[in-house]
This record gives sequence, structure tokens and C-alpha cells, in this order.
Amino acid sequence: MKQDMIVILDLGGESNSALARQIRALGVYSEIYPHDTTVAQIKAMPNVKGIILSGGKNNIVDGRAIDIDPAIYDCGIPMLSLKHPTERCKCADGLNDALLESFLFSDAKCEKNWNMENFIADQVELIRRQVGNKKVLLALSGGVDSSVVAALLIKAIGKNLVCVHVNHGLLRKNEPEEVVRVFRDELGATLIYVDAVDRFLDKLNGVEEPETKRKIIGAEFIRVFEEEARKLDGIDFLAQGTIYPDIVESGTKTGKSVKAHHNVGGLPDDMKFELVEPVKYLFKDEVRACGLQLGLPESMVYRQPFPGPGLGVRCLGAITRDRLECVRESDAILREEFKKAGLEGKVWQYFTLIPDVKSVGVRDDARSFEYPVIIRAVNTVDAMTATIERLDWDLLDKITNRIVNEVKGVNRVCYDLTPKPTGTIEWE
Ligand code: XMP
Repeated sequence: MKQDMIVILDLGGESNSALARQIRALGVYSEIYPHDTTVAQIKAMPNVKGIILSGGKNNIVDGRAIDIDPAIYDCGIPMLSLKHPTERCKCADGLNDALLESFLFSDAKCEKNWNMENFIADQVELIRRQVGNKKVLLALSGGVDSSVVAALLIKAIGKNLVCVHVNHGLLRKNEPEEVVRVFRDELGATLIYVDAVDRFLDKLNGVEEPETKRKIIGAEFIRVFEEEARKLDGIDFLAQGTIYPDIVESGTKTGKSVKAHHNVGGLPDDMKFELVEPVKYLFKDEVRACGLQLGLPESMVYRQPFPGPGLGVRCLGAITRDRLECVRESDAILREEFKKAGLEGKVWQYFTLIPDVKSVGVRDDARSFEYPVIIRAVNTVDAMTATIERLDWDLLDKITNRIVNEVKGVNRVCYDLTPKPTGTIEWE
């Protein structure tokens, strides 16, 4: 293994994620573990050069004072204790870079060897060790996380990774084609492409209620994926794009900070897969850096957040094929114009949606009765609240012009000025 590691033991510390990031920023890899991690577990981890006890208020959690496995104090690995007074090792009340650097590089004798190249090399080795010459299945949505996992696994086990891409008809323009092009044509993946468009749209036919739509899309997705999995022989592993924020809760309470593995996306119990989660210790920006290093296109790596139910929640009310096409085409125009205006990557999320209502307009000197399209462009840190991007008027003008002229069936464009709250980012 190429990377040194610092283990952060969570004794109720309130900023373990930030601490892990601070250590990584200094060029040393680190992971967070619950306070009851045993000395045997730590010894089994590769290249552990130091341990940091990350304590919180009096190290009391759920009314109970806590400490670590006492044998850890004598295991010979340099230790630093934060807000966890102990006579057994060096203690500090807070942590600045100077103190941290002195611990990392003088006491723990770490090398600055945390970088993407080494991470990828280590993961490739770990994946090969875990999987051997068996097969791994992956649901490849085209989202950042699953794409990076696919690229890593292709590097590690090549054709023994079997990717399944389900096109549910609710993806953005050219997305399914892009997934097939990048993974099958360029990276040589074993990729099963499932055209489930009719199946999804039939199931959704006439369904208006947003939550019911979401449930149908989610359940049908698992059904399709499961059917494909059953057709395949000899698959023992399932890869998932779990990332670190999915595992580490911010503001943790010790012991609960590191959650158990996610369940296998709702697959039935009789399908027994072991999980492969090679990016589960990466933060989002690190996942992107990993993707770039593996040669994925920027459009995939910097893809803006896109809801699982896709355009299904942007085609309001009962989904119809004509309106779905309107939202897909207008969204493509919006993204193209944002890119040209240099806004790609600057505005957090932007898309169009279409309500289920027509309005009167005029086209070629005649009355028209067509749909409006609504533009949404928001900025946020955590998606819990959001503000509206103050778009340039000329840009709005240009986008409006293109949409009403290029998208068949649309005669009006509106800009949603509602922050979250009171609006949510999506309309459904
Ligand atoms: P709301 O509409 O709740 O959206 O303000 C907050 C963020 O979450 C995204 N979103 C989803 N992401 N599955 C996802 O993976 C979903 O079902 C889902 N619904 C909303 C939304 O696009 C926004 O970024």
C-alpha cells in the first residue's frame, strides 16, 4: 500500500469530517472510526502511522462517559488527544495546522503521500484482493459517483465488471448515449444497456401525484435492475458509489458516526451480494478529482446534481411524451447557453420544468395554445436552503428566444424567482 494513514477515533468530536479533511489537505490520508474500535482492528489496517483521539464535551455521549480500548494506548502508534484529557498521550485543546503538522511529520513520521495517483493504485490493489477473478455488478446511472466507481473497477478488473445502465426515459438529452460512448466505446466496459423507456412511461401513465410518481420510478428501477442481475451467472459482488458524507454524519456522536453499510439498494434478500465500495472514504471533490485522474470527461465529473427520478419530477403532473420532450429539449438549450455564458460550474443547479397547463399565445400571426417552460437556477451550500441566481437579462432573453423557436409546443418561458424556502429546488 502506498499511503500512510492517520486514524481519527471519534470520542464525540464535533468536527471529525473537517479534521479528516484538514489532515488530507496536509498530504496525509485519514479515516474516522468509532471510539470502540479495537487495537486488533487498528493493527489490521495498512500503514497506520498515528492516532488522533477526537473528543467532544467531556467525552460524554448519551449520558455515558467514554474512553477507548486501553490497549490502544500501549500499541506503540503515536497518539494525539484533542479535547480528551488523558495522561497517556499528548493532549491539545484545539488544533491548528502547526500543531497538526508537528504531530503528523515529527511524531508520527508520516510522508505526504496522499494523492489521487496513490489512492487509485491502492484501490486497484484492494479491489483485486477483495474480488479475485469473480464478477462485480454495478448500476451505472451516469451520475458522478457511479461513473467514478465504474472507471476504477474497469482499471482493476476490466471485463469482470458488469455495468447495467437502465434508461428509464427520464434522463437528460444525450445522457444514455454518453454513458454508452464513454464506458463501452472508450473504456471498453462490459455494459448492458437496458431500454426501459416504454416500461417506465407505461407505469407512469396518468399518475399525477408527485410522491406516487417517485415511488413508481424507484420501485421500477430496482425491478429492472434485479431482472438483469438474475439473467447473469456467477456474480458475487455488487459495487456501489457510496461516498464519505453518506457514511459520516456531521456533528457526530461517537459510535454512531460511522454507519453500517448502506443496504443493497432494496434488492431482495435472496440475492446475496458482497459490497464493493471503493470511493466510500472520499469527499465529493475528491471523487471528482479521482474521476478526472481516471480519464472521465469533465462533463461527467462536474455534472450538476440530478434527482434520481430525473425529468419525471420536472414534467409536472401526469407525464406525457410530448411534454417530456419539451422539458428535455429546453433543458439542453438552457445548459448550452449557460455553458457559453461561462456559468457552468458557477451556478449550483439549473434546469427547466414544464407544468401541465397551456396558455394562449401568438405565432405566425395566428393564435397558439401551447405549454410554458419554467427556468430554475439556484445556488446553495447544502440544498437545505437556496437562493436564486440573478441571471443576466440578455441571457434570459436569448434562452427564451431559442426555447420558443426551437422547442415544438412551447410558446412561453418563465423564470422562477422563489428561493428555498418557500419553494423547494425541484417542483415535485
Ligand atoms: P428539493 O427539491 O428537495 O431538492 O429542494 C434538493 C436537492 O435534492 C435533489 N433531489 C434529489 N436527488 N434523488 C436525488 O438523488 C431524489 O429523489 C431527489 N429529489 C430532489 C434536487 O435536485 C436538489 O438538488
